[in-house]
Amino acid sequence: MSSTLFAGALVALALSMGASAALAAEGATIFADVCAACHGPEGVGTPGVAPPLQDPPLWAALGDKAPGFVAGVVISGLSGTIMSQGVGYYGLVMPPQSDYSDEDLAAVASYVLKDLAKVEGVVTPEMVAERRAAPLSHKELMAIRGGGM
Ligand code: HEC
Repeated sequence: MSSTLFAGALVALALSMGASAALAAEGATIFADVCAACHGPEGVGTPGVAPPLQDPPLWAALGDKAPGFVAGVVISGLSGTIMSQGVGYYGLVMPPQSDYSDEDLAAVASYVLKDLAKVEGVVTPEMVAERRAAPLSHKELMAIRGGGM
């Protein structure tokens, strides 16, 4: 390829890396501003209030269903008994976070997966938009999640 094209490709690469770093930083900021009130700083969990989002075996068990699950939860919220890291979360309700944009929810959901749960997979704004158009019920989300983990 010509050197001009090569330079162009490098610029594009640098820009896309910058964009994904910016997205990750945005996800962390939204998490701290919105989700940490219940889930604790960096998703350590608050017994009696909201379960941890950091590294429970749940995420590994969900596998490639994890991105769809998180996208569904941020749009619909969640209720139903949850066992997480041996602690029960009973009778709690997570309110839907659907006032936030598809982009913001994708950024924060991807941050949860990558930085807190430490699993593969991203949530795109398109996935959030799809869930917004056809939200899952709490019952459906709990069926994806499975019970005691
Ligand atoms: C008002 C408190 C509150 C806020 C704010 C909140 N959550 Fe939750 N979240 C909960 C509760 C409570 C549950 C568990 C609901 C249940 O017991 O069924 C939950 C569950 C979850 C789960 C499922 C965890 C599991 O073990 O299955 C995810 C993922 C999640 N929240 C992500 C988020 C994200 C991301 C945000 C920020 C955009 C957020 N939550 C904001 C209270 C909250």
